[in-house]
Amino acid sequence: MKIGVLGSGMVGKVLAQGFSNHSYEVMIGSRDKKKLEVWKDESGYKGLVGSFEETSNFGDLIILSVKGAKAIEAINLSGIDNFKGKIVIDTTNPIDDTKQPENGVIKFFTNSEQSLMEQLQSYVPEAKFVKAFNSVGAILMVNPDFGDIKPTMVICGNDDNARNEVTKILEKFGWEVEDMGKANAAGTIENLCILWCIPGFLRNEWSHAFKILKK
Ligand SMILES: NC(=O)c1ccc[n+]([C@@H]2O[C@H](COP(=O)([O-])OP(=O)(O)OC[C@H]3O[C@@H](n4cnc5c(N)ncnc54)[C@H](OP(=O)(O)O)[C@@H]3O)[C@@H](O)[C@H]2O)c1
Repeated sequence: MKIGVLGSGMVGKVLAQGFSNHSYEVMIGSRDKKKLEVWKDESGYKGLVGSFEETSNFGDLIILSVKGAKAIEAINLSGIDNFKGKIVIDTTNPIDDTKQPENGVIKFFTNSEQSLMEQLQSYVPEAKFVKAFNSVGAILMVNPDFGDIKPTMVICGNDDNARNEVTKILEKFGWEVEDMGKANAAGTIENLCILWCIPGFLRNEWSHAFKILKK
């Protein structure tokens, strides 16, 4: 399976490197390929680098790891047809950059009626969006090390097969997966980002992950 990673931030780089290290064919994309060429030389990343359009065309599976407020813009630049019929792992969070966190609580530009992923799913109905990776910091996304304890990644999305495929990837990456069902669970999963960030903003603690305990 070829992986197209849209996004040149921390998440895009960590996931592109992670998929490449797990022996997938990977292309990472940006509006500005040159900055990724520099990173490739410095990081030792073995995959390909492309534009958003080249990357979304390359991927059998697409990772959407761009700024939440610019996700639709990034999809348009990538070419909407390149998403049709494909699994899209949506790592984005709807963070409102125009507002400061209040007591460590960041603000979203979405409301409780419609999450960002539901907006994206409506924008490209033929794509199979699966929310994943958004509830943890980038450095913990691949092979998180908590000793003997496996952290939990919560996911959701409308397509059952897509969620199963993403579950297999997450398990390879060292996660236990909790499948939360259809896309209307995405708002709750996006809100976990707010919760995850609070210890960071209050106490500069950024190295935790969520775990669901079960009897
Ligand atoms: N950082 C984390 O630890 C973390 C953890 C979980 C989830 N997330 C979420 O994952 C996503 C990526 O986060 P990040 O921190 O890696 O990077 P980011 O700074 O949120 O986003 C960087 C990416 O957004 C693209 N972008 C910015 N403005 C754009 C525009 N006007 N049109 C199209 N694309 C635009 C950039 O494109 P160029 O490449 O062209 O510059 C770049 O690829 C975000 O939604 C974030 O909330 C982040």
